[in-house]
Amino acid sequence: MDVDRATHTTTTPLADDASTPTAEAVPMDALVIQGGRKLTGRVEVSGAKNAALPVMAATLLAPGVHTLRNVPLLSDTRTMSRVLEQLGARVEFRGHACKIDTSGVRSVEAPYDLVRTMRASVYVLGPLLARFGAARVSLPGGCAWGPRPVNLHIEGLNAMNAGLEIEHGYIVGKDVRLQGAEYGFQTVSVGATAQLMMAATLAEGRTVLDNVAIEPDITALGEVLAGCGARIEGLGTRRLTIDGVRELKPIDTTIIPDRIEAATFLAAAAITGGSITVERCNAAHVAATMHVLELAGAEVLPGNGEIAISGPTLASAVNVTTAPFPGFPTDMQAQMMALCAVADGTSVITDTIYLDRFTHVPELTRLGAQIELKGNVAIVTGVERLQGAPVMATDIRASAALVLAALVAEGETRISRIYHLDRGYEGLAEKLVKLGAGVERVQE
Ligand code: UD1
Repeated sequence: MDVDRATHTTTTPLADDASTPTAEAVPMDALVIQGGRKLTGRVEVSGAKNAALPVMAATLLAPGVHTLRNVPLLSDTRTMSRVLEQLGARVEFRGHACKIDTSGVRSVEAPYDLVRTMRASVYVLGPLLARFGAARVSLPGGCAWGPRPVNLHIEGLNAMNAGLEIEHGYIVGKDVRLQGAEYGFQTVSVGATAQLMMAATLAEGRTVLDNVAIEPDITALGEVLAGCGARIEGLGTRRLTIDGVRELKPIDTTIIPDRIEAATFLAAAAITGGSITVERCNAAHVAATMHVLELAGAEVLPGNGEIAISGPTLASAVNVTTAPFPGFPTDMQAQMMALCAVADGTSVITDTIYLDRFTHVPELTRLGAQIELKGNVAIVTGVERLQGAPVMATDIRASAALVLAALVAEGETRISRIYHLDRGYEGLAEKLVKLGAGVERVQE
């Protein structure tokens, strides 16, 4: 499916950033980790994957050359680049700065091959409908840990007159003129909130969205859209009012720090009983994790753009229930389980966002963890020590949990299929080595 070809402007080269690691994903690499070393030192957090991906998709709304800075170099941001290129955009990376020229976009199709490798590809749906009145985007399908529906994305867009139909596994919209609408989300959804916000910016009239997600990634997206000329009120609250405008202009913006990466490093320090400072992060975005780590016995000191942490000699058991922001993030559930696996006492971990998100449990068990799973509740009885073993990464955060466990396990742990880590953590092995961990990346 094609749309009218627009004039294509050439991208301006960006300053090169030679210090940048090129996070090349080697699909069959493994991490070999020698456990037992306390982390010490300072580590810098990269840009947030979950903020970068919707912002990259949002560039489709405004024809022209956008500049996104602090974009994390991950396989997921590369996949989003490919999705945009497939649509006709030009994407150029120089270090962490990414220029996206969306003036030459001529296709409205996001094919299955790309969407199945990364669900966030579905973010192009709203922008394509809003700017071109048409889209053909593959349904993402399931995920390693179970179903992850997009029904709210479709229902919300249809409330805005998108008339979307499912045809042969694709979400299809034709001759669409989006109309402002009032729509209340039955469940708080980060993805669907982002989708409808983007679509509403160019819809005719006013859209009022209720029960929206207020994750920092959503607020950041709203600020980017506002910077492009969108009229959005209520950012940071559960109700957004968006008055559609006729057109948006390109933006130069900086991606916010990755709160999950920051929280993962804090947990890594806590599990090893080490002392580190996590730099270039926003403590307000990490508050729920900091609170739980304090309950576990860590000393946590948020500063200006950084967080210092000293881990306990022996962590205390904690009870954790995931919830939408500002609650405890589902994206930290697995890592916290690793900590609880070596804590003193019995912890109860409940995931209310994704009820099946426990693929890390059997792998942590291979390292000696004692975990009983009852539906979406994991009962973790802390053990004195974990033992290194070969394990397998199954998704981004599950892999991070295995890395954390391996940092304290006796002997060597080999984590295979770490392409999952490459999707969400920029240069994780290098950063851990800098903190004193015994981590080596090897080819399998
Ligand atoms: C969720 C997390 C996000 C995390 C991401 C990847 C929340 C609220 N969201 O975002 O922080 O980064 O996983 O781990 O914590 N749902 C539907 N229909 C839809 C969309 C969602 O039923 O169309 C349900 C989901 O099944 C889930 C809940 O709503 O139970 C939240 O989903 P959503 O926030 O959209 O998921 P992600 O955007 O993947």
